[in-house]
Amino acid sequence: MNKSTIELLGRLHECHPVKVLFVCLGNICRSPAAEGVLKDIVAQHHDEANWIIDSAGTGDYHIGDLPDHRMRVHARQRGLELNHHCRQVKEYDFQKFDIIIGMDESNMVNLRRLAPMPEDEKKVMAMSQFFSDTSRYDYVPDPYYEGAEGFELVLNLLQEACLNLYNKISSK
Ligand code: 4NP
Repeated sequence: MNKSTIELLGRLHECHPVKVLFVCLGNICRSPAAEGVLKDIVAQHHDEANWIIDSAGTGDYHIGDLPDHRMRVHARQRGLELNHHCRQVKEYDFQKFDIIIGMDESNMVNLRRLAPMPEDEKKVMAMSQFFSDTSRYDYVPDPYYEGAEGFELVLNLLQEACLNLYNKISSK
């Protein structure tokens, strides 16, 4: 975990509830899955009052759509129903959310460009910051042009990262 992530997590002390936005490119595969995975962990801990969780995309290709059918099927096999409707990330999200988590480096670059104030860039961090130290990955790969393995890999990475995120933030 890098220094700016540790500082960002430290600032969440004053945030009740903690407001988390997950961001990817299309908002139909990775980020709505991250939203569903973290909401499920929060529900298992009966901790809904302490969290606001949403997702959005940097692109505008799928606005209004449910998550990609393949992602919904793979998530359902793990007991997760993904019902988010795609939306594009906007400047006002930097006011609304305490922490904005990108799935890959391109998401992070686009988010930093969108940040209305230099201070707001400090809310942006990478999902990989919550991967285990032994992970072979340093980003959440885009599964859109991949087969079933790509969707399973994304869900494995997100389930590990969201559990680490939940434990780190809720023990703050
Ligand atoms: P996501 O995947 O960023 O994980 O939602 C993608 C979904 C759609 C497209 C690209 C990536 N697309 O080009 O339409």
